[in-house]
This record gives sequence, C-alpha cells and structure tokens, in this order.
Amino acid sequence: MSETGAGSTEPVLDVEDIHVYYGAIHALKGVSLRVGASEIVTLIGANGAGKSTTLRAINGLNHPRQGAIRFEGRDITTATPHSIVQGGIAQSPEGRRLFPRMSVTENLEMGAFQRTDREHFKEDMDRVFELFPRLHERRHQKAGTMSGGEQQMCAIGRALMAKPKLLLLDEPSMGLAPIFVEKIFEIVREINAGGTPVLLVEQNALMALDTAHRAYVMETGRIALQGPAAELKTNERVQKAYLGLE
Ligand SMILES: Nc1ncnc2c1ncn2[C@@H]1O[C@H](COP(=O)(O)OP(=O)(O)O)[C@@H](O)[C@H]1O
Ligand SMILES: [Mg+2]
Repeated sequence: MSETGAGSTEPVLDVEDIHVYYGAIHALKGVSLRVGASEIVTLIGANGAGKSTTLRAINGLNHPRQGAIRFEGRDITTATPHSIVQGGIAQSPEGRRLFPRMSVTENLEMGAFQRTDREHFKEDMDRVFELFPRLHERRHQKAGTMSGGEQQMCAIGRALMAKPKLLLLDEPSMGLAPIFVEKIFEIVREINAGGTPVLLVEQNALMALDTAHRAYVMETGRIALQGPAAELKTNERVQKAYLGLE
C-alpha cells in the first residue's frame, strides 16, 4: 500500500516537520503528516498533545516557525486564513462555534460566504440536507436551541457549504450522546466516499481508528506512532494508552 493511500501518489496535504509556538511555549516539535486525495486520516492523542495546534497551523491561524505546509503542491506555510479557506480547506472547529441566534439555514449560508461560484449554492444546500435530514427538519430553528449533536451536524454542514477540497474536523464527537457519535462518524465516511479527503482530530480513538484509513498518534507535540488505522488498533501501546485495553 502506498503511503498516501489507495491510488494517489501526491498527497493533497503535506505537513513537513513543523514547529509551532505560543509565545515561548514550544507546542509542536517537528510534526509531519500527509493526507492523500482519497483518504480519511485521523490524528489522535491525549488532551494537550497538540492536535488542535496542528489544525491551527494548517488553517493559517498560527504559522510554523520552522517547517513547511503544502496544499495541492502549493506552499501555504505563511498564507492567511482567508486565502487558505478560499484555496479549499474548510474546518468544523472544536466547540462548533455556530451563530446561536441565527437559523440553521443562515448558519449554513455563512459557510458559503467565501465562495465565488455561487451558482451551485442551492444544490450544495440540498446535499447537506440529504446528508443531515435532521438539519432539514430544523432548518428554521435557531442553532443555539438545538442539541449538541444537531449543532455538530450544523457545524460540519457549514464547512461543507464551502465546497472544501480538504475537510478538517476537530473533535466532532466531543460531548455527544452515543447515538450521535455513531451518526457523525457515519457521515464522515459518507463525505469521504463523495470524494473529499478528511483530516479527523479525535479523542475517541476507537471510533476514529474504525473510521480512518491511516492514523497518527500525537504525544506532547510530536508524532509518536503512525500507520494504517487497522494496524494501530492492534498496537499494544495504542491499546493501553488510548483504547483502555490491557
Ligand atoms: N492559546 C494558547 N496559549 C498558550 N498555550 C497554548 C494555547 N493553546 C494551546 N496551548 C498549549 O499547546 C499545547 C497543545 O494544545 P492543543 O493543540 O490545544 O492540544 P490538543 O488539541 O491535542 O488537546 C498544550 O500544551 C496547550 O496547553
Ligand atoms: Mg484540541
């Protein structure tokens, strides 16, 4: 199996040895990872390991001091967040950050805000409602009055409205009831099956490893392990530290 997954040679996203700081705090100490064109790649690890910081670097919110980030072959290491979104990377952020007093439909519309090709807008909204029938039922409801699971669906739907060429998800299952957790991971697979590569940050290692093609395990600002998700699931160290198995 090629390193970037079935059928693809060039990765869509190539993060190479990045070092990221918060002031004097050295949060990422040489992180490298790749996402191939047809892949779901998961980044798992304990709280504080540096998962969100990795996504912030990819989004242009915290530029690396060293190393490089390439997207579709272009260097985006120091690109602005705006140009990165316009280039096709969209994220459903940790904690969702919807506009609570706006309706579901209005929140979804905000996701398409940066797009220049608005002629497919209606189709894309329909596609989101197809993926999330629940959002269609609640389309007139204020986002802030929905359950956590429904809000997460809305946040993912909003990211999809940007028509991303790469979708970043930061802990989409956090705080959700088990039935919604299942649903969210199912949707991630469906989005990927539709042709969108996904970088999935998760603390729910079991579900993430069951969903992804490949995985990286992050420990204190470094990639400690990497490989096909199915292989990491049987790795003794992963089982002890992240899957609660002895
Ligand atoms: N805004 C910030 N200011 C200072 N340190 C931060 C900030 N955000 C995160 N950190 C630190 O960076 C490290 C990685 O955090 P983070 O990327 O949020 O981890 P994770 O998403 O894996 O839980 C942690 O030690 C955290 O305390
Ligand atoms: Mg985080």
